[in-house]
Amino acid sequence: MNVLIIGAGGREHALAWKISQSPYCDKIYVAPGNAGTAQIATNVDISITDFEELAKFATDFNIMMLVVGQEAALVEGIADYFAEKEYLQHILVVGPRKTGAQLEGSKDFSKQFLLKYGIPTARYQTFTADTYDQALVYLQNHPYPVVLKADGLAAGKGVVIAQNYEEASFTLAGMLKHNKFGTAGDKVVVEEFLQGIELSAFILTDGKEYVLLPEAKDYKRIGVGDVGLNTGGMGAVSPVPFADEAFMTKVRQRVIEPTLVGLQQEGIPYTGFLFIGLMNCNGDPYVIEYNVRLGDPETEAILPRIKSDLFELFKALHDHELGKFQLEIDSRSATTIFLVSGGYPEDYEKGKEIQGLDKALPENVLCFHAGTKKTHEGTIVTDGGRVIAITGLGQDMEEALSKANAGAAQIKWQGRYFRQDIGFDLKQYLAERF
Ligand code: AMP
Ligand code: GLY
Repeated sequence: MNVLIIGAGGREHALAWKISQSPYCDKIYVAPGNAGTAQIATNVDISITDFEELAKFATDFNIMMLVVGQEAALVEGIADYFAEKEYLQHILVVGPRKTGAQLEGSKDFSKQFLLKYGIPTARYQTFTADTYDQALVYLQNHPYPVVLKADGLAAGKGVVIAQNYEEASFTLAGMLKHNKFGTAGDKVVVEEFLQGIELSAFILTDGKEYVLLPEAKDYKRIGVGDVGLNTGGMGAVSPVPFADEAFMTKVRQRVIEPTLVGLQQEGIPYTGFLFIGLMNCNGDPYVIEYNVRLGDPETEAILPRIKSDLFELFKALHDHELGKFQLEIDSRSATTIFLVSGGYPEDYEKGKEIQGLDKALPENVLCFHAGTKKTHEGTIVTDGGRVIAITGLGQDMEEALSKANAGAAQIKWQGRYFRQDIGFDLKQYLAERF
């Protein structure tokens, strides 16, 4: 069977790597892909939202499975496009339709959904340009910090945690008056700040049955100790020590199962991954956000821990047999460290030659490309902010981290930066506990 993966990041490289291990898989194509996916699959130079060209390619190249990594394609309706055209209906699409993708595409929609189905989440109110003055009054009376979220997709940059009224009103004006996030900021969700440790939970679901995938924790801030600007993600750890049986049972009962009930009651079909961003507040899970795809860099840490054939898992999704699918998980720890361009997440230069990619990696170390590109001369250069994800596997988090660090040290370019403290808070948690 031939597979087409949509996206260009470390997540898509990890998906291609994992799917390529399946005996059921013949050829893998990635649109548009990167220099890493090109080593194990064929890159296709088509935009992720050019559905007509993607459909034409899928037909010409006998694609039987479409795995959508990137949210923008889902929010724009790639799954609807493939479901509505008769000649494409034999293709198994992993990714929800537009209605389901609203869970990520609109924060206001997802908050209303959470509230309606009694799923624990931060208290909130939504404002538009028409209710700007009310928003200011609301901010004057709100405890701080407060969280402001642009309603639509904003590439991970649409959330601001404001420490005081000045900051909050400035952010509000940027979103509602000065179009700082384009139409994504036409509505603003203002919500209560939740104190706790974050966790990313993932399921694969057909809207009724589901398989819980390994959880992960990601590190979003640029600086050591979780300070500085938000990024797409600087690293990830899986498993997460505090996500024990008791906590995950709460996640299943209070969050995952009511979410599926909600989707059914709303008449929203859902076939794909659902990523639930959670805050662990004193042992209770609260939903921070839904995403309708896998996380990046979480994927680079969780897929290496899944022993089951991904292709068989996707087949079970489409045969509505996830309820009896026994997912085999490697008990080892995986940690991912992202190597990024100097200056990221602000301005940075591209086109820096990456050294060390040709050297053999230490045992139990994996290298996934994100922002990389092969030049006409055949060298691999940086082509984005987040460039290479290195994953280490080990008996525990410490060993996995030392593997990932050894791998990271091998790959260099001018200005490359990475956080050397991934997992710091979890080490602290473990130290306090034992
Ligand atoms: P999001 O794009 O919704 O994932 O938000 C980005 C980041 O902002 C999250 O990963 C959290 O670190 C933080 N965040 C979002 N909402 C809240 C909240 N209600 N309380 C505390 N932190 C939050
Ligand atoms: N790692 C967070 C995300 O993929 O949105």
